[in-house]
Amino acid sequence: MCELIPPRADLTEDQWLRTAGPGLADAAVADDTADTAASAPGVHRRTLLGGAMAGAALAALPFGAPQPAVAAARTVAPDRFPLPATPGPSGEYAVLITGDAGTGKAEQHAVTAAAREICRAEGVGLAVGLGDNIYENGPESDHDSEFEEKFERPNTGIDVPWLMVLGNHDCSGLVPGSGGDPSRGDREVAYAATSRRWYMPGRYYNVALPAGGAQEDPLVEFFALDTNPVASYVVQTDPHYRWNGPYMREQRRWLDTALRASRARWKVVLGHHPYLNNGKHGSAGSYDGFVIGHYTSGIHLKELYEEVVCGRADVIMSGHDHTLQILEPTDRTRGTRQLVCGAASKTGDGKAHFTHPAAWQDFARLGFMLLKVSAGAMTIDAYTVDATTKQARLAHRVRTARAVGVETGMTAGVQ
Ligand SMILES: [Fe+2]
Repeated sequence: MCELIPPRADLTEDQWLRTAGPGLADAAVADDTADTAASAPGVHRRTLLGGAMAGAALAALPFGAPQPAVAAARTVAPDRFPLPATPGPSGEYAVLITGDAGTGKAEQHAVTAAAREICRAEGVGLAVGLGDNIYENGPESDHDSEFEEKFERPNTGIDVPWLMVLGNHDCSGLVPGSGGDPSRGDREVAYAATSRRWYMPGRYYNVALPAGGAQEDPLVEFFALDTNPVASYVVQTDPHYRWNGPYMREQRRWLDTALRASRARWKVVLGHHPYLNNGKHGSAGSYDGFVIGHYTSGIHLKELYEEVVCGRADVIMSGHDHTLQILEPTDRTRGTRQLVCGAASKTGDGKAHFTHPAAWQDFARLGFMLLKVSAGAMTIDAYTVDATTKQARLAHRVRTARAVGVETGMTAGVQ
């Protein structure tokens, strides 16, 4: 959803609920139609649970004990799909990019049906899920049936590892989409141990794919972030996850070290919340029109992107906005390109709200992207999907031969 905007910046969840009134929790999950309560047509079972949870928590504030940062590993799935070990025959890795997919609805199935065909044709060996993997407020447990309904079943046939990123809906508590309950993200980490597809060894992590042959340096490296503690709609009540708490300090240290140490030809940062964005949620530092506070505005995520990522990564890939955008690298970004790819199940409002330079953008259609990397070039293909025919159309292609940190320069063409 992400249509839910707090009445003021930096509220706690209970303050938000008290301010917005008792109907808020129901409204927040009303567009999730996956399992409707039989006794009350139109009212979702999880809506009722959400309302009950909100009521119980309001009666029993403050909240309970903090959850551990990372859930304990369970038995590893013995037959999980392996990470690709060598580039394809053309010397390329092809990677499917999706975001904001986890509704389980017909739109998600249409996009995955279209993507499945492209993946076969292009030899895709890896996929990315840019967060909001389980709408509306993340899994109830690490074996919640929602994993099957909103991930495994729609993605059947795209039999590759999926690098999964935590979105605000994956880490929500009383208010679906708030991003205020990190413990739900731990359930997604734990689920990775028993899934063939779902790859999430921690809340943030990196994955490097080898170049093959005698080349020792990786061809491409992915850095998956947890952006929620610095972009949540609400204050993180657990001190561990506060914007300046130990978790974010450690994540920043890890990212800085990992990016600095990486010898990969191409470096790709994956974070649910975008740095720059022409869609309605806007950019980090002024999300949804908020420019005050430590959380709702995303000001500290802006700092993280600008101080650690820009000029070091070739691409930042994000979702959150349900749109498709290939923004241009600029002096401001020090050559780093922002992609927004959050239209795997929902669409935007049809118009641009901001004017960051864009090679191509679409605010109305479903879709996904393909990243192709070889020793010589990085290519980004943007596909739109017709929900009725379940067909994908290549809408735009951008290609560069020069990695950030070496030189910048992109060529682009409208298909
Ligand atoms: Fe989101």
